[in-house]
Amino acid sequence: MKIFMDTANIEEIKELNEWGIVYGVTTNPSLIAKTGRSQEEVIKEICNIVDGPISAEVISTDCEGMVEEARKLSGIAPNVVIKIPCIVEGLKAVRILSAELIETNVTLVFSLSQALLAASAGATYVSPFIGRLDDIGEDGIKLVEDMVNVFRKYELDTAIIAASIRDIEHVNRVMLAGVDIATIPTKVIREMMKHRLTDEGLKKFLLDYENSKK
Ligand code: E4P
Repeated sequence: MKIFMDTANIEEIKELNEWGIVYGVTTNPSLIAKTGRSQEEVIKEICNIVDGPISAEVISTDCEGMVEEARKLSGIAPNVVIKIPCIVEGLKAVRILSAELIETNVTLVFSLSQALLAASAGATYVSPFIGRLDDIGEDGIKLVEDMVNVFRKYELDTAIIAASIRDIEHVNRVMLAGVDIATIPTKVIREMMKHRLTDEGLKKFLLDYENSKK
């Protein structure tokens, strides 16, 4: 399972990219808004840091507008992936962009049927939102597990990005489900590195080393 960062924060992306674990980045209009800068500026900067796929989301809700925005955004850098909402106009846009070899990430996916339609339209990636399903009392992990089974069964080319991840339990569960990618907030990636026994063990090793020199 590849790790993408789910953030538009440049400092965080720079820092974690140095860890050597970042394969891509996903943004959305809410994350871009938090930066207080233009989407074009932020995406350009992220593309200069990370080589992998960088998702930038369209704002239009009609096919023509989405395609126009997508063409502009994809001109920023070769690794830009266009995030398209999972609506009918979005499916039409995905089909057109796919014929133009522009990669797409269909976002706001909350059901198996939506995922199949997005894949059928030619999406490069589909993003099921786990946390938001949990928020309304549904099972986000189950959706990802079902999607992995169905996509493998029918040998669909579309990659699954587990999104709206809130904690390590989500990360572990989608990893076990065999998802292709998880896009994870910085805070959760930091937590993934932590274990009390690692810190205690290292402290003891260094202490024993110091004592052995006496
Ligand atoms: C990523 O592609 C999504 O936009 C993001 O994971 C949504 O997460 P949220 O539900 O925490 O806003």
